Amino acid sequence: MSDSLILALDQGTTSSRAILFDRCGAIRHMAQRDFRQIFPQPGWVEHDPRDIWESQLAAARAVIAEAADAPTPAAARAATSGELARATGKGLTAEAPKIAAVGITNQRETTLVWDRRTGEPIYNAIVWQDRRTAEYCDALRAAGHAAMIREKTGLVLDAYFSATKLRWILDSVPGARARAEAGELCFGTVDTWLLWKLTEPQHPSAGAAVLSVEARKHGAPAAATRFITDVSNASRTLLFNIHTLDWDEELLALFSIPRACLPGLRGNSEVYGHTAAGLFPGPPIPIAGMAGDQHAALFGQMCLRPGMMKNTYGTGCFLMMNTGGVPVTSRNQLLTTVAWRLGSEVTYALEGSVFVAGAAIQWLRDGLRLIESAPEVNALAASVEDSGGVVFVPALTGLGAPHWDGHARGTLLGLTRGTSAAHIARATLEGIACQVCDIVRAMQADAGTVCAELRVDGGASASDLLMQIQSDLLGLKILRPQTRETTAFGAAYLAGLAVGHWSSVSEIQTQWHIDREFSPQLPREAAARLTQTWARAVDRAKAWAAG
Ligand code: G3P
Repeated sequence: MSDSLILALDQGTTSSRAILFDRCGAIRHMAQRDFRQIFPQPGWVEHDPRDIWESQLAAARAVIAEAADAPTPAAARAATSGELARATGKGLTAEAPKIAAVGITNQRETTLVWDRRTGEPIYNAIVWQDRRTAEYCDALRAAGHAAMIREKTGLVLDAYFSATKLRWILDSVPGARARAEAGELCFGTVDTWLLWKLTEPQHPSAGAAVLSVEARKHGAPAAATRFITDVSNASRTLLFNIHTLDWDEELLALFSIPRACLPGLRGNSEVYGHTAAGLFPGPPIPIAGMAGDQHAALFGQMCLRPGMMKNTYGTGCFLMMNTGGVPVTSRNQLLTTVAWRLGSEVTYALEGSVFVAGAAIQWLRDGLRLIESAPEVNALAASVEDSGGVVFVPALTGLGAPHWDGHARGTLLGLTRGTSAAHIARATLEGIACQVCDIVRAMQADAGTVCAELRVDGGASASDLLMQIQSDLLGLKILRPQTRETTAFGAAYLAGLAVGHWSSVSEIQTQWHIDREFSPQLPREAAARLTQTWARAVDRAKAWAAG
């Protein structure tokens, strides 16, 4: 087992990645394939399900081929001492790497529907960013359904989640609703689609009989099918009751979703099936871990105790706090979600999303042309002591949690004749950090705890200046781990635990190492002044587009 690897498949919104981890948690090989984004109308975002699968498969095959070509550490040692060459007479040769398990992690909420018999998608995947069902959500809200939905799902009634996207497909593709009711169609988020494809037998019809009447009534039987989702992905659909941990009849009726098209429900660390024979070199590999990307990142950051939290700085920001075995109902506009289920033990989390974080830096680059590459923002912002009174609320696509104002717009305040590009760059980093502060405060208020630290990952967490500003404004320690691939890490750990590659959570906890710790340096009064100015600026940004 010591030489074997774990393959993490990280299927994101713009790219599919595959990473091979060794037993020490070190990355051995990594491959990435970008894929097409489809924008059929303003506000609509789609992916071709075949692109999702093919890019993920290509990344997995590339990483396996790379591993086959590379010597294992043991072989490399032997080669250095000449033993392997003498023993084999031919030196290092390509051989399928030993892969103990596959873990899947994925962009969440994105909605796919395919034919249960042929496996053919009936429509493009509707991506989480897609807003086509926003008016339908408004109507449901006006009809007074939001409170019941929040109570059962922990979510706000929004087009972000899967249910209204699935309803749209069933109502818009001719014949889809009748076929879904007859058990002929499968609904899945990306995890379910990848599991289906990874386990697809050579003759798909062999494993895809139409459901019996009895099975249709109860939904797909979990254990006997490769049509499965996990509780973290299910908890982002608006159809899943986070208290009963099952699909909810009242929600299915409200959104007009036939239970027959829903996948079976499983935990996050168990064997769901094996890769189809011939898909990869070597014997079929158990697929043993599955979780939505933010949930996997919380696990990969080893935020395993209540009160521990992580933030991923990507295009937007995703903050999650472990709240333990009890779902905490937010009084501050955050989401309650299942973090993971290991065996029978369920862990819940609070989540808050910032829509525009790294995207604000991209806007400085592509919109304002203040910088030529994103990392340049750091040197530019560091060239001034402070923002010179400039405040930037980067609400370029509205404000997410805890404000939830789709009509808010980007707002740049405090400009004078002395304002320079450097002040705007610094105000941008502060604006990103201030949005994170708003969510952390809401989380601490909801959870009734004051946390000591925030663990960080994602592309923009590489910025030392942004991390220092974050620490100053929050008054908390910021911990940046050595491996920032925490999403893939989480999926690998979930899979490896299920097959005994790692013996326990305590063993993997020892593999999380700090790269750098940032401690608050700004006096608290100065931080408080900045926060107050920020709050006034947010008030100006709110509801701007609504007039
Ligand atoms: O909720 C959406 C989120 O899971 C997408 O993550 O990393 O693909 O942008 P990412």
